[in-house]
Amino acid sequence: MSQTVLITGASSGIGKDLAIQFAKGGNDVVLVARSESKLQDLAEQIRQDFHVAATVIRSDLATSDGVDQLCNQLREQAIHVDTLVNNAGFGALGRFSELSIDRQTAMLMVNVVALTRLTRALLPAMIRRGEGGILNVGSIAGYQAGPNMSVYYASKAYVLSFTEGLREELAGTGLHVCCLAPGATESNFGDDSGMSKLDMFSSATMSSEAVAKAGYEGYCDNEDIIIPGWKNRLMVKSTALLPRSAMRKLVGKMQRV
Ligand SMILES: NC(=O)c1ccc[n+]([C@@H]2O[C@H](COP(=O)([O-])OP(=O)(O)OC[C@H]3O[C@@H](n4cnc5c(N)ncnc54)[C@H](OP(=O)(O)O)[C@@H]3O)[C@@H](O)[C@H]2O)c1
Repeated sequence: MSQTVLITGASSGIGKDLAIQFAKGGNDVVLVARSESKLQDLAEQIRQDFHVAATVIRSDLATSDGVDQLCNQLREQAIHVDTLVNNAGFGALGRFSELSIDRQTAMLMVNVVALTRLTRALLPAMIRRGEGGILNVGSIAGYQAGPNMSVYYASKAYVLSFTEGLREELAGTGLHVCCLAPGATESNFGDDSGMSKLDMFSSATMSSEAVAKAGYEGYCDNEDIIIPGWKNRLMVKSTALLPRSAMRKLVGKMQRV
């Protein structure tokens, strides 16, 4: 059945391709990010290619009232969101003590706080309707600590744990609750975070199209955790076999700054 799907961080990378996947599946989309002109271009492309409604809402999710303003916009435009895709996020490579605290706080606001507030705002209506759900974009980084990117890894551990907890709370409601946990993916993320200069990142990237396709299909099937790509799945399996102390040392070596 056709739904209305809100995607945060739809202006580029995985979020843009998730928006295309949901639209291709016949769903109306609400595209959210700060870069309004990129969102308008995508909305136009989606309307032409898939004949569904595409609405643009500009929102800075790092601000304390970003989510409230977004929800006001949804109310004013009488948009009822069936599926929420919490995809917006960013990272920063560097020592915690040397990276700007403002950047790291903004990361927590987008990756953790906005994701949580938006879920809380939209979920009750989904539960009442008994359909739709939540697709949270975490990362394979959520499975272990990440020295020299500690806040980002911790934010993605939150996304994974929060999604799993929510999934159990909502069992039997008919809602889908899934976590998409990609590994290195071609998008603006690599250059923006500084990760693209690391071999472990640049040697193993997947396309954002492939990641989004896996995410969309996994969400439709209500898979609990969707890890795109066999290499990423193997990496997560080996993480579980190694002691946490060994794993964090290994990641620290690979992410030496
Ligand atoms: N690429 C990877 O290797 C990788 C791996 C695992 C997980 N992920 C996760 O995948 C998600 C998407 O990242 P991506 O790889 O597609 O990177 P990307 O191309 O940099 O896209 C990030 C998106 O988040 C939005 N965003 C950032 N700050 C925002 C803010 N303050 N308010 C609203 N929107 C904001 C950006 O839009 P504006 O700049 O227009 O606001 C953009 O649309 C993130 O959660 C990331 O952590 C990425």
